[in-house]
Amino acid sequence: MTVYSKIIGTGSYLPATRVTNHELAAQLAEKGIETSDEWIVSRSGISARHFAAPEENASDLAVEAARRALEAAGLQAGDIDLIIVATSTPDFYGNFPSTACIVQNKLGIQNGGAAFDVSAVCSGFVYALSTADAFIKAGNAKRVLVIGTEVFSRILDFTDRTTCVLFGDGAGAVVLSASDEPGVLAVKLHADGSHGHILCGPANPTSAAVAGPRFLYMDGQAVFKLAVTVLEKVANEALAHAGVQASDLDWLIPHQANLRIMNGTAKKLGLSTDKMVVTVNEHGNTSAASIPLALDQAVRDGRIQPGHTILMEGVGGGFTWGAVLARM
Ligand SMILES: CC(C)(COP(=O)(O)OP(=O)(O)OC[C@H]1O[C@@H](n2cnc3c(N)ncnc32)[C@H](O)[C@@H]1OP(=O)(O)O)[C@@H](O)C(=O)NCCC(=O)NCCS
Repeated sequence: MTVYSKIIGTGSYLPATRVTNHELAAQLAEKGIETSDEWIVSRSGISARHFAAPEENASDLAVEAARRALEAAGLQAGDIDLIIVATSTPDFYGNFPSTACIVQNKLGIQNGGAAFDVSAVCSGFVYALSTADAFIKAGNAKRVLVIGTEVFSRILDFTDRTTCVLFGDGAGAVVLSASDEPGVLAVKLHADGSHGHILCGPANPTSAAVAGPRFLYMDGQAVFKLAVTVLEKVANEALAHAGVQASDLDWLIPHQANLRIMNGTAKKLGLSTDKMVVTVNEHGNTSAASIPLALDQAVRDGRIQPGHTILMEGVGGGFTWGAVLARM
């Protein structure tokens, strides 16, 4: 019998502190840095973002999102036999131990199932979901927690107005289960390391210390141009692989980086923006967490229904990009 993989529960978590553009602009103004709600909204569509408390790490956000996804799936933590966490802001420098292992421990799972992190920055969730799908279809896992979690506020330079206004913290999770009916219909992943320098966290470990600036660097215009090109291409690849037309999609859930990139992608695919889930206005860019956060919001508010066909797609540092087409 063919084994399929299907999303059977979603969950998400946002840290309590919500910072509006006006509040952020006022905080930056105290450092002599000028920005405005008008500039941020017009360039990115972002109005607010959430920032984690100093004691909250990526694993804490992930655990909250995971608990909600497990509850939605009607499962206990012990039913999970694999945890994949996508993050670029892990609890420990160098992912040592991995955030997935920390999440496993915090969820009290002692069944010896595997747990590991995936590093593909803002494409992290689609990379992690594709990996989970492959584990299930190969018969190597049955119930997988796939989590995107980020505390990007830790790697933002709050003296660089070109980046610090764009990102936020949060986590989203899904339970991907083995199923006898189709769920994940197609996965397409890509990377091109030659563009690594346009969006990166350049610090690197030496034998004695961390060398280089520890904050995120981004060439915004170069990222913009590459993102709009690859997102359209990978969306069409995933659709073609499954023999699905863009017009058959119920929902497009793009990585929530920038409303202009998202609208551009929907337009290129011939989709009305009414069919696109948008949370970037309230969340900012939460990197690997953005797609599962948006997915969970649209599931919980009733827009996404069982049987709907959804296309999730991400793009980010590496450079990486990818898409997952799924039936809910
Ligand atoms: C970052 C981004 C919003 C910048 O928008 P842009 O239209 O390209 O703006 P520019 O970089 O050309 O800057 C325009 C001006 O605004 C200024 N500016 C930059 N950030 C600002 C801010 N927060 N507030 C006010 N002004 C700002 C610049 O200094 C520049 O001023 P100048 O013309 O006097 O030099 C845009 O390039 C973008 O969205 N890129 C993609 C980012 C992204 O999605 N990254 C994540 C991918 S996973």
